[in-house]
Amino acid sequence: MTASTAAPSTAAPATAATAATLTLTRPDDWHLHLRDGAAMAAVLPYTARQFARAIVMPNLKAPVTTAAAALAYRDRILAALPVGLDFTPLMTLYLTDRLAAEEVDRAKAAGVVAVKLYPAGATTHSDAGVTDIRKCYPALEAMQRAGLLLLVHGEVTDPAVDLFDREAVFIDQVMVPLRRDFPALRVVFEHITTREAAQYVAGAGAHTAATITAHHLLFNRNAIFLGGLRPHYYCLPVLKRESHRQALVAAATSGSDRFFLGTDSAPHAAALKEASVCGAGCFTALSALELYAQAFDAAGALDKLQGFASHHGPDFYGLPRNTGTVTLARQPWVLPEALPFGEAQLRPLCGGETLAWRQQD
Ligand code: DOR
Ligand code: ZN
Repeated sequence: MTASTAAPSTAAPATAATAATLTLTRPDDWHLHLRDGAAMAAVLPYTARQFARAIVMPNLKAPVTTAAAALAYRDRILAALPVGLDFTPLMTLYLTDRLAAEEVDRAKAAGVVAVKLYPAGATTHSDAGVTDIRKCYPALEAMQRAGLLLLVHGEVTDPAVDLFDREAVFIDQVMVPLRRDFPALRVVFEHITTREAAQYVAGAGAHTAATITAHHLLFNRNAIFLGGLRPHYYCLPVLKRESHRQALVAAATSGSDRFFLGTDSAPHAAALKEASVCGAGCFTALSALELYAQAFDAAGALDKLQGFASHHGPDFYGLPRNTGTVTLARQPWVLPEALPFGEAQLRPLCGGETLAWRQQD
């Protein structure tokens, strides 16, 4: 993997640098896009091989807005799961201006664990998202009462706000009032990308946490433009400058239990990524743990990976930690450049490059 866009921030201590294997409590992915149909069947095995559970995002083409739709989606995922893989999808609802409190209660009864807030127009399949958070207050009251978590895509959509500032502006305009009005609601600030978001979460108290992707730990925004425009590095929120990447690494490796793993692995057909208008999303599920290990290793913090990947998430969600383990070995391997994706092809992030760590079966 090229190091030019993500210089290691500290030298790894001898123990971490020389460790040949790393065994962790089996981790979970607290932010995942699986899609549906043949695309879902193509990517699901990669996640199920590494993670015991995943929060499955509800931004399908027809968003998952009811408990019944979430249960049906869950059934399709379980039906597509290859025999022998032990994996539990954790289902979410898509928040709209019209989500009723009664639907929140039905979702809770159906085992749905969280509701996802997409500001309308913020990202892939977010057209049905929230136009004004105040319209959602009845649903948020019901979630706070029922114990459903709110998962937040934290970017404003105002075209007057620079794309690179949209997360920081969201904190002031939406997060702070939301926290004030629903102090007992558990909120996950998803895929944070800035120093501002890391600082906000660190100071926001026990009911606020954040997921961090492997790609935001490994790359800064130069990666999108290295030698030409690289669509596979384009995601939302977009990669930020190096000082933000360093702040994310510091948060992830701090040991704080309010930062945990969420890949935001988001498969798009290669032809659509390489088109004149490129969809946002990086596909990392094939090698997610290895990419995180690379980032923690570069920071000399492999000893902090288990908390981040396997403990902090279930603790925040109020779910049991997993009992099994996974083992990674320091064993260089070359990531395939393309994978089958239904009728199409999928390009994994860092395809064709050498990764230092490899999960052992
Ligand atoms: O890069 C992204 N891709 N960000 C999102 O918020 C959505 C995701 C997707 O669904 O492709
Ligand atoms: Zn996402």
